[in-house]
Amino acid sequence: MGGIPKRTQVVIVGAGPSGLLLGALLHRHGIDTVLLEQRSPDYVLGRIRAGVLEQVAVDLLDEAGVSRRLHAEGLPHGGFDLCFDGQRHRIDLHRLTGKRVTVYGQTEVTRDLMAARAEAGLPTVYEAEQVSIHDFDTDRPRVCFSHQGQAHEIACDFIAGCDGFHGVCRASVPTAALHIFEKVYPFGWLGLLADVPPVSHELIYANHERGFALCSMRSATRSRYYVQVGLEQQVENWSDDDFWAELKRRLPPETAAQVTTGPSIEKSIAPLRSFVAEPMRFGRLMLAGDAAHIVPPTGAKGLNLAAGDVGLLSRVLAEFYRGSAAGIDSYSERCLKRVWKAERFSWWFTSLMHRFPDHGAFGQRMQHAELEYIVSSEAAQTAIAENYVGLPLG
Ligand code: APR
Ligand code: PHB
Repeated sequence: MGGIPKRTQVVIVGAGPSGLLLGALLHRHGIDTVLLEQRSPDYVLGRIRAGVLEQVAVDLLDEAGVSRRLHAEGLPHGGFDLCFDGQRHRIDLHRLTGKRVTVYGQTEVTRDLMAARAEAGLPTVYEAEQVSIHDFDTDRPRVCFSHQGQAHEIACDFIAGCDGFHGVCRASVPTAALHIFEKVYPFGWLGLLADVPPVSHELIYANHERGFALCSMRSATRSRYYVQVGLEQQVENWSDDDFWAELKRRLPPETAAQVTTGPSIEKSIAPLRSFVAEPMRFGRLMLAGDAAHIVPPTGAKGLNLAAGDVGLLSRVLAEFYRGSAAGIDSYSERCLKRVWKAERFSWWFTSLMHRFPDHGAFGQRMQHAELEYIVSSEAAQTAIAENYVGLPLG
């Protein structure tokens, strides 16, 4: 890239899906941005994350002009299976809600957004070190960082904190101004990615006495599987064979028999957490995506919430530059409404599907009774389906 600008309208911290999509949407509104990312592009693309897009995310990628490959390669899914007691029960998303979701990896979304940003020649600084944010309680915020040994400062109108859960932006807000709501679950997900055809053409969420399992995919030839593991587990201690054996134990025998195994491309353990920081705006600093909230992955909401945040943020910033600050003032409240709905669903679905070490026999019976109720009740299935396919941006 050319020189790093000394002034821009919006500095975006973090080039995950939130920061990149925000940059693309603001570009469509004619708003200038500089994007600062502490890692390299390869590192960012090496992270394997979720893979289910709600319509709201697809619409925003359309709006950003970066959905060509998504439409060509994304897989529309009109349902998924809930599995327990060795039986699969289909939740018919499309019949119950009229909507589908699209299976397309977050890594691919990120790749498409990166390519579009590079093609548009928009300023992006990878491997930006020691990013610090200043004066966001005034009309003239500043962002400082170093790059290739040189110190830089960018003056801006707004700072978008899209720097994920461990980022610097939320950490720069005085603690007294933040309310944190958090729940850490007593287990994690061990995930495996492999170039093998998926066991089923739709996702399978399985509740099993040995723990939760999920059969997902990235394409007709690439599968993503997960098994619930204890927090003490280390990925190094799981061979591919161990993983496949454990996955199969948690699926009905007919399904297990159809699993195609193969060498892993990636294998990692992710902890499960519910987290919300309120509010999402502090003067001229707006948080978006994982910087503001985390959901456990069971509901497939993380990326969709992030998309919703930056969709709203791009609109309120566009309104600001057209002369109205009202949207800026309502940003946090509007986001948090969606966020808490998704937090509730993700927490509930996680509670329904996992083995909890502290649940006891009564807790397990309640979980089972709830699963039985769901598969016998159209209303319960409709509620799940509506939450799973998500809400329009509004
Ligand atoms: N300076 C610059 N960049 C930073 C800093 C920092 N101090 N700290 C973190 N970052 C970068 C990270 O390297 C990362 O690339 O910010 C980016 C944040 O990206 P994500 O963690 O992917 O968060 P977000 O873009 O909000 O994406 C949300 O990711 O975890 C999933 O489920 C979540 O799907 C959802 C999506
Ligand atoms: C995934 O494919 O990685 C995936 C799918 C659905 C989820 C979580 C993860 O709920």
